Amino acid sequence: MIRKATLADHARIHAIRMGVREDVLSDPSLVTAEEVDWYREHAIFFVAEEAGEVVAFTCANHQSGLIWALFVDPAHERRGHGRALLDAALAELTAAGHAQAWLTTGSGTRAERFYRRHGWREMGRSIDGQIVFIRALAETDAN
Ligand SMILES: CC(C)(COP(=O)(O)OP(=O)(O)OC[C@H]1O[C@@H](n2cnc3c(N)ncnc32)[C@H](O)[C@@H]1OP(=O)(O)O)[C@@H](O)C(=O)NCCC(=O)NCCS
Repeated sequence: MIRKATLADHARIHAIRMGVREDVLSDPSLVTAEEVDWYREHAIFFVAEEAGEVVAFTCANHQSGLIWALFVDPAHERRGHGRALLDAALAELTAAGHAQAWLTTGSGTRAERFYRRHGWREMGRSIDGQIVFIRALAETDAN
């Protein structure tokens, strides 16, 4: 089940972000509470639930077309949560008028392979060496 995130989900979302094995945050203070609150209150912030527990989340920026975060609890990977959350976020970006979404992710990761399989195209590298991916938004993920 996918639904909008609420303030009550904060602790579980934080635990998932800190529990991933790839794209580990070297410095947790790089993601501020203000940013997280902004996504929840003013942008796109969905969680996926399994048996009543939050197991994955995504944040997207309806102003810039950025997928800012997509994280799945490692114990609940490969069950379709990543794709379902991404589809939901892309549908919101499409509804907001975007023709294209973008994101950055680490090279050589599961996320890189996941995005390539789901129609994302590499545009180059960001200043910190991450891959910049874009995806056309004429339709949601039909791969
Ligand atoms: C990358 C990531 C988001 C993928 O999430 P996920 O929930 O495992 O993704 P999905 O389950 O939708 O898809 C993954 C695979 O599982 C498969 N799958 C989905 N449901 C399935 C099921 N019921 N049974 C078997 N396989 C299934 C999908 O077909 C897909 O296969 P493929 O990779 O061969 O195409 C997740 O691994 C993650 O959070 N990684 C760490 C954090 C990160 O790097 N995030 C990106 C930063 S922007």
